[in-house]
Amino acid sequence: MPITTCVFDAYGTLFDVGAAAREAASEPGREALAERASELAEHWRLKQLQYSWLRAITGEYTEFWNVTKDGLDWALEKTGLDGDPELRERLLALYWELSAYKEVHFMLARLKAAGMKTAILSNGSPDMLEGAVDSSGVGANLDAVLSVQNVGIFKPARSVYDMVGDHFGCTPDQVLFVSSNGWDAAGAAGYGFKTVWVNRAGDPVDRLPAQPHTILSDLTTIPDLIS
Ligand code: LAC
Repeated sequence: MPITTCVFDAYGTLFDVGAAAREAASEPGREALAERASELAEHWRLKQLQYSWLRAITGEYTEFWNVTKDGLDWALEKTGLDGDPELRERLLALYWELSAYKEVHFMLARLKAAGMKTAILSNGSPDMLEGAVDSSGVGANLDAVLSVQNVGIFKPARSVYDMVGDHFGCTPDQVLFVSSNGWDAAGAAGYGFKTVWVNRAGDPVDRLPAQPHTILSDLTTIPDLIS
């Protein structure tokens, strides 16, 4: 079946999750953070994701904002930056206004011009997603922003991917699903979506039951895949 619907993961795929630590580190008086910003960002992201998977396995769902805060608290302690409550608040505030990667606007506009339905499907809480969509200005080219909060479990649970067909009335093979998370692209491929893994870091392919159909280094050529 031809692709009718392009669905994007949010954090790390459309929105640059490293931007919060980078931006805070560039502010005056943040020398301690500047020395460890990339280490902090990496721990923060990894713990945020681990907590989402663990809570999915144990059935202890909480909104993504809570695992984002828990992941940051672990990462701040791990990097010895936990003695500065104002830094914590600043990093959390920046997470609500992450920038989109530079190619996102044009890529989404091309998909809409080609008649595609477009959406975000994210672990993010609806209010977090609204903040990032509004501050980055990508909303005009999105038909839907779907949050896992409606099903109360995190990706890669199949009930999350079900939300796309439930919303758009399409079959899995009509969906192109795009994620920068190898595990998310693998989960979506196993579910039956056509998938793209956006591998900006040049990481190895995840050893999981399904593999992404296409691997790209950024989002620029996504519209070429459906034409
Ligand atoms: C999301 C995370 C997993 O947006 O990146 O769902």
